[in-house]
Amino acid sequence: MGHVARYGKGHRRRLIVAGRDQGGNKGTSAATRLVAAGRRPEWTGTGDGRGIVNPPVWRASTILFDSVADLRASGRDPNAGLYYGRRGTPTQWALADALTGMEPGAAGTMLYPSGVAAVTTALLAVLKPGDELLLVDSAYEPTRAFAKTVLAPMGVTARFYDPLIGAGIADLIGPATRAIFLESPGSLTFEVQDVPAIVAVAREHGLVTLLDNTWATPLLFPAIAAGIDLTILACTKYVVGHSDAMLGSVTAGPMWFERLRRLTHALGHHVGPDDAYLALRGLRTLPMRMKAHEAGALKVARWLETREEVACVLHPALPACPGHSHFVRDFAGSSGLFTFILKGGDDHARTAMIDGLAHFGIGYSWGGYESLALPIDPGGIRTATQWQADGPAVRLHIGLEEPDDLIADLAAGLDRFRIYRA
Ligand SMILES: Cc1ncc(COP(=O)(O)O)c(C=O)c1O
Repeated sequence: MGHVARYGKGHRRRLIVAGRDQGGNKGTSAATRLVAAGRRPEWTGTGDGRGIVNPPVWRASTILFDSVADLRASGRDPNAGLYYGRRGTPTQWALADALTGMEPGAAGTMLYPSGVAAVTTALLAVLKPGDELLLVDSAYEPTRAFAKTVLAPMGVTARFYDPLIGAGIADLIGPATRAIFLESPGSLTFEVQDVPAIVAVAREHGLVTLLDNTWATPLLFPAIAAGIDLTILACTKYVVGHSDAMLGSVTAGPMWFERLRRLTHALGHHVGPDDAYLALRGLRTLPMRMKAHEAGALKVARWLETREEVACVLHPALPACPGHSHFVRDFAGSSGLFTFILKGGDDHARTAMIDGLAHFGIGYSWGGYESLALPIDPGGIRTATQWQADGPAVRLHIGLEEPDDLIADLAAGLDRFRIYRA
């Protein structure tokens, strides 16, 4: 559902009014650009020079054509406008356009009904039977599962690598190696990868790179500019931002976008316009929300580091996190998701801590405005590396509540943990 819109000269004045003038965007901050992103006059107005603020929800399956000639001509250019509901409407195009605009150097964005669908379609776009995929050991678990349940039966081998391997990934490359999948920081354990080193090796060997960039979003790590070929977001998290819609995206550089688009159409992916609308609405406030998530999470994480009951805090912006120096070098900031490891204790004591929390929900998905606490056990998932910890681990998502309220809640939780640990 990507869309590359074409403008005639006559649109220029109205483009500036709509805040979509490329030249005028130079030097403006992401927050400023996101306010007007995807707001094109042909998507928000009726051609009289006036327009509404938000690209509206266009619900469609059938598209009606002017004539048989028009119908026949329409299918030839995938970017020529309305064609068939599955190819999207201005609602989805506006979101795709806004996401592409966040990634300097990108050719376009395709949308998917979930983050997992984005991951799996991106992988299918670059792999064929007989290929080998190098897959980071700290990848989101369903990404690993896809390698086993779908890629392996189709003849693609996955080889897992240490998230901290850096340039050493060159040693794993064989004649069948085709692609490197990165996720940085890693799911649950937050190792920050040396993306520039891995991209350099991939380029030298003619390999494709894919990155799950959900934690940082392009605001904190513009992946295409860093040399990544296909960058993936579970928009379900920070882009939507309100825990009320599922959506994924893949933004690709010029080498891969056409192939990704063709495969996405062939697989029949479609995102409902209501969900696309919610995601575009979420994007407007993403920069402000990310700043609040960052500030809250850092405050809570630093406080946790001072607690006797806590063995370690795995937050990319804190020195104890593996790959912290890569974070300092490459990222423009941090988001609201991190893990801490309890000192001693068992699942029973951890459960007592989590179950009694007043301001933290217990749930898997994250990136909304609400705080979450999740018991995690990464030990059984890894194959290339060993997970070793002094006690059970908890992943926190810090939402938009007052951080001091969250700290008081966690302090009471750690008191409960201490009682059960004894
Ligand atoms: C890093 C990461 N990637 C992808 C996904 C999948 O996204 P979705 O839940 O939209 O399928 C998740 C979900 O938790 C995630 O954490």
